[in-house]
Amino acid sequence: MTEYAFTHLRHVALAVPDFDKQLDFYTRQWGLSVAGTDGDTTYLAAEGSPEQYVVRIRKATDKRLDLISYGAADAAAVDTLAEKLGRGGVQLINEPGTLQTPGGGYGFRFFDNDGRTIEISADVAVRRHRKVEEGEAIPVKLSHVVVNTTDPEGTVAFYEKYFGFKVSDILMHPRMGNMMWFMRTNSFHHSMAIARGPHPALHHASFEMRGLDEYMRGTGKMLRAGVEKIWGPGRHLAGNNTFSYFLDPNGNTMEYTTELEVLDEDTWHPHLYDFSEPEVTDQWGTANAMDEFVAAKSFNDVDKGLFVAPPV
Ligand SMILES: [Fe+2]
Repeated sequence: MTEYAFTHLRHVALAVPDFDKQLDFYTRQWGLSVAGTDGDTTYLAAEGSPEQYVVRIRKATDKRLDLISYGAADAAAVDTLAEKLGRGGVQLINEPGTLQTPGGGYGFRFFDNDGRTIEISADVAVRRHRKVEEGEAIPVKLSHVVVNTTDPEGTVAFYEKYFGFKVSDILMHPRMGNMMWFMRTNSFHHSMAIARGPHPALHHASFEMRGLDEYMRGTGKMLRAGVEKIWGPGRHLAGNNTFSYFLDPNGNTMEYTTELEVLDEDTWHPHLYDFSEPEVTDQWGTANAMDEFVAAKSFNDVDKGLFVAPPV
């Protein structure tokens, strides 16, 4: 049996030109809490998550995805992965060492095949978190991150080869072919997904809500606040999770979700779903149509950070 190199998704880091609006959105509207600030960088935690932070925002001229961070089982697993990447000719940004970010730990960064910065870490201190209560429309944790790439087949192969990610399901279109691959690194249906797009960029980041009621309350809270809704509310077939997508002030798509499927990995076989069928994109039939507006917003802007290490 193949071992997963990553235990779980930790956080996503974004650099944005409009920092003040971004911070206001994630704290006062989206429901994250400030865990710390260091110069131009603010760390945002989800109340229900043991991760030190689930989103990091940094004030910068260029909008970019700074990095995506995953956990490893222990320091030995970090070293093993660094060696494996080095042997494969993958460009490491730094060698494994002590991390200077909140919670410390041991890890390193590297560029994936598309030039995204990925961080892997172990032994990061656990944050004091709490149970999200009934009716609280705030994220419990970061659920998954989806990325765009012009070479999804290559990116899927990269994440399979080096980290043991497995494909849970694939979305296809009769004219466009295979378009999205849902990838797992534990028994959750997906911690990441890889989408075919016009350029590598963040497609969306998704936050797990306590349950259906809290997910709907969060959706309603965004609608009432006038946050631009991209798509939803609805329930996807792949992953069986609910979705409501909104645009943050710097044009990144963020999702409230809940009830993402946990797989029985011994018996699971990936499906190839045709997303031109409305029941595939939304089992409920409540969401607006998956059209060119939704696709265009999901493509995001051209990422300015490819093969450029973030300063922090
Ligand atoms: Fe999602």
